[in-house]
This record gives sequence, structure tokens and C-alpha cells, in this order.
Amino acid sequence: IGSKFSISFRTFFTYQIANVVILHKDLADDFEAFCRANSSPLPLLYRSKCGEWSCGPLATGSDIREDCPEYCVFENGVLMKKVASLSSYTPQLQDMVTFYLGCSFGFESALKAAGVPVRNVEQGKNVSMYKTSVACIRAGQFHCPMVVSMRPVPEDKLDNAAQSTHGIPLAHGGPVHIGDPSIYMCNATSTPLGVSVRPRQRSHFCFSSCAIECTIVDMFKQNAIIAPSSENKRLSSAGFLQSPLLSSRGIRALFLQDELLKACLSLSHSSSVLITTGFPTHYMHNPPEETDGPPGAIAMAAMLQALRKEVVIVTDGRALEMNQHIMRDAIKKGASIIADLVFLRYSLVVLGVDLSCLVRTGSYCTMFSECVCVCVCVLSNWGGYAVACALYVLNLCPIHWRYLHSGLGLSLTPDQQSLWMACLPTVAKEEEMLHILVKYGVRSGKTANLGLEVDGLTFHPYHSDVIQRLRNLTLA
Ligand SMILES: *[C@@H]1O[C@H](CO)[C@@H](O)[C@H](O)[C@H]1NC(C)=O
Ligand SMILES: *[C@@H]1O[C@H](CO)[C@@H](O)[C@H](O)[C@H]1NC(C)=O
Ligand SMILES: *[C@@H]1O[C@H](CO)[C@@H](O)[C@H](O)[C@H]1NC(C)=O
Repeated sequence: IGSKFSISFRTFFTYQIANVVILHKDLADDFEAFCRANSSPLPLLYRSKCGEWSCGPLATGSDIREDCPEYCVFENGVLMKKVASLSSYTPQLQDMVTFYLGCSFGFESALKAAGVPVRNVEQGKNVSMYKTSVACIRAGQFHCPMVVSMRPVPEDKLDNAAQSTHGIPLAHGGPVHIGDPSIYMCNATSTPLGVSVRPRQRSHFCFSSCAIECTIVDMFKQNAIIAPSSENKRLSSAGFLQSPLLSSRGIRALFLQDELLKACLSLSHSSSVLITTGFPTHYMHNPPEETDGPPGAIAMAAMLQALRKEVVIVTDGRALEMNQHIMRDAIKKGASIIADLVFLRYSLVVLGVDLSCLVRTGSYCTMFSECVCVCVCVLSNWGGYAVACALYVLNLCPIHWRYLHSGLGLSLTPDQQSLWMACLPTVAKEEEMLHILVKYGVRSGKTANLGLEVDGLTFHPYHSDVIQRLRNLTLA
């Protein structure tokens, strides 16, 4: 992580608070693997030996059968009852292992110390927890969506909030997301979720401390505070709104704020991506393809590969071979640094669609009603470049990397950022790409010209200017 973080030290003289999960010993190794793979939601403080009531290093003289105010008792994965003591379960506990997990109550004091108001405490309320649509990393039979707590923080206190919690990983650490929760795909329904992670298990009994009832151990939190860079790069989806083409094509009406950010988060959350391109505009020519599409698709494919996604290009069976040649040439000529891509063939049925007519009738929107998000762009290539650039910017964000690390188990390697940068579109690369398309007889959309032209606009100065502006914006 190196240069992107500065390190300072601070000590909190507060007690660590723990959640407790008690499982049959047969499940313990899988559960430990689950905790280690998802260390942000499930920070493991201590795993007891089988049948051990105390938690040696965490609290002297403790007895987990009595220390929690209340316990949830699960039988065959179903919550059966709540009890105040586990003493009557002593025979079963001989075969069970206790896991002590860090808890976010631990960082409320850190927030307060950093001058960040903790609204739920001020209002005497439990913090709201939400189930996201982001899956934790599976281990054995343990899997569940990531559950997050959400706290309103005044904008000018955001840096303080992120910095003061970042260095306390045993209390979940810093935020996995700052901003509009729907972007992070949180379920809008506030669900009062407990801490228990319920396996679909065969074991008879399983205990956990109840939702809010935690045990307190006498371990002081004494951690390095790792402060994220204060320059939190933010994505702006508002660029290029002044383009005259926007109004001439009447697509401004379809523009939705934040769709580019949503698209990039969704792509960044995924492990494999299908990209499809190719629109047979020129049925009088062979091939009928146009130059708007493949360059943008290749730009996205390259960046997604650099972000370690599996990328598959889905293409019309008729154009499969040509597209494979174009990709090979792009790699050979240095127009793109992609590894060989996997191609899938499909048969395209073209219904005579007039996009401007669809925009007017609004059925264009209906066509995409099943989409998670639709990024409207004047030219497909520009949209593809913008997605590649936005993915680059998003991946420079330390908060997003906290998610990638804890949600997807990815880790940053030192050479990665330069690889991403090398995947950004450049004027030279895109000019080379057009040369390749022309070599295969691919024509400009509006005019059917066979030259360095996309949709009736010559590469110089139009496309080169857009690419340069996008690069400048991205690198700034
Ligand atoms: C917090 O949650 C616990 C457990 O669900 C409940 O007993 C308690 O009343 C709640 N506290 C507040 C202040 O809402
Ligand atoms: C959101 O959560 C509620 C309650 O848990 C559930 O009924 C609903 O299906 C969820 N919605 C989505 C989109 O996951
Ligand atoms: C991009 O940035 C360079 C260097 O700062 C500048 O000279 C150039 O004019 C910019 N180009 C565009 C199209 O904004």
C-alpha cells in the first residue's frame, strides 16, 4: 500500500467489546477460515480451545457461560430461544469452540474522540444495520451477504471519521463506503440484524451473544492509526455534458446522475464481465460493422483485465473471426494491452430500430428497464473510454480498496497502479486501433467512409480531443 498512506500513532484507552459465537468443533475450522477471509466484518479476537470457557489472552477469570447478559440458542440453524446463562449446556459445550469477534461499538469512542457526532448514541438508539447485496467470501459451508452499519456523518467530519476508525481493524476499521447507500447496493429496508452468522449446519447447537448484548473483555485497544490519503479522489459523472451531440441526438433526457459511478462500482464488485459489441449498420457493405463500438469495448476489456476480472467478449457469430483478428492485431500493434480474450458466439437478430424514434417514445428506456444501470453516451467508444477511466479513478480510492480487500479478498500489489495507468486510452493507441479497424473494412457509422472516422467525425481533431480531455481529467 506504501505511498498512498501515511502512518501516525494514537492510543485509545477504551475496552474492546466482543461478540461471541459458539460452534460445534466440527464447524470451527471452516468458521475460522470464514473470519480470516472476511476480517473486516468478522475481526477474530480469539478462538478458544474445544471446551474452554475462559478466553485467556482477552480477559482474565472470564467464563463465557455466564459473561454475556443474554445468549441466542440456535438448533439446526434456527433461533430457538434466548437464555441468560449457558451453564445448563455445559455437557454440550465440552465439544464446542468459542469465537470472540470484534464489534463496532468499540469504535464509537474513537469517533467521539475525533469530534465526530455519533447520532445513534445521541438519540439513544441502536445503530441501524443493513444487509447489502455484496457477498462475503465463502469458506466451507459459511456464506452470507455482508451486513453493514450505517451512520450519518456531517460532510466536514468525513475525513475525521475515516481516519479515526481506519486503524482499529478489530472493531471493523474504517468505512467500506462513503456516500449514497443505494450505490453500494444496500437494501433500503432497515433490518435489525443480529451479529450471528448462521451456518446452514448439521450441528445440533450453536450459541451467539444476542444482537446488542456483547461481552466486554479487558484488552485495551492500542493500535496504529493508518490514515487514508486526505485526497479522496471522487468520481464525477458530469463531464462532457456540454457536448453538442448530446442535444442533437436527444439523449440528454436519458442522462441520470451517478450512473457512471454505479456502473463502475457494479463492475468493480464483479469477478467476471461479459462485453458485447458490434452493430451491423452498413448492410450494403461487407463487413457491415461500424467503427463505433469495438474501440470502447477493448478499452473497457483492458482495464477490467488489469483489475483482475475475467473478461469474455460476446459477439455475433458472423463477425467472430474478424473480431478475434482485430483483438490479436490490437495486442500486436500495441493498441491495447489485453491478454487473449475469450469469445462467445451468438446470432444477432436485428429488428429495424431507429434510436431517435425510441428516444421520443420513451421505449428506449423500457428496453433497458431490466438493467442495473444504463450509462448514456453520445458515442459508444466515448462511453467505453469513460468507463475505463472511471474504473481507474475508483480503484485509486482507498475506501473502495477496503471493500475490495474485505469483500472480494483482493490485495494491492505495488506494480498494479502502473498497469492500470498503462491501460488508459491514449490518442496514439486509439488512432492505431482505428487503423486496424479500417484494415478490416470497418466503416464510419453515419457516412460509411472507410477512414479514420467514427460516426461521421474524423479522429483528428474530434475523437483525439475527447480522449485527451478524458485523460487529463482522469489523471488530475
Ligand atoms: C437495542 O437493541 C436491543 C436488542 O435488540 C434492545 O433490547 C434495546 O432496547 C435497543 N436499545 C435501544 C435504545 O433501542
Ligand atoms: C430487502 O430486505 C427485505 C427484508 O429483509 C426483503 O424482504 C427484500 O426482499 C430485500 N430486497 C432486496 C432488493 O434484496
Ligand atoms: C491536457 O493537459 C495538457 C498538459 O497539462 C495540456 O497541455 C493540454 O492542453 C490538455 N488537453 C486538453 C484537450 O485538455
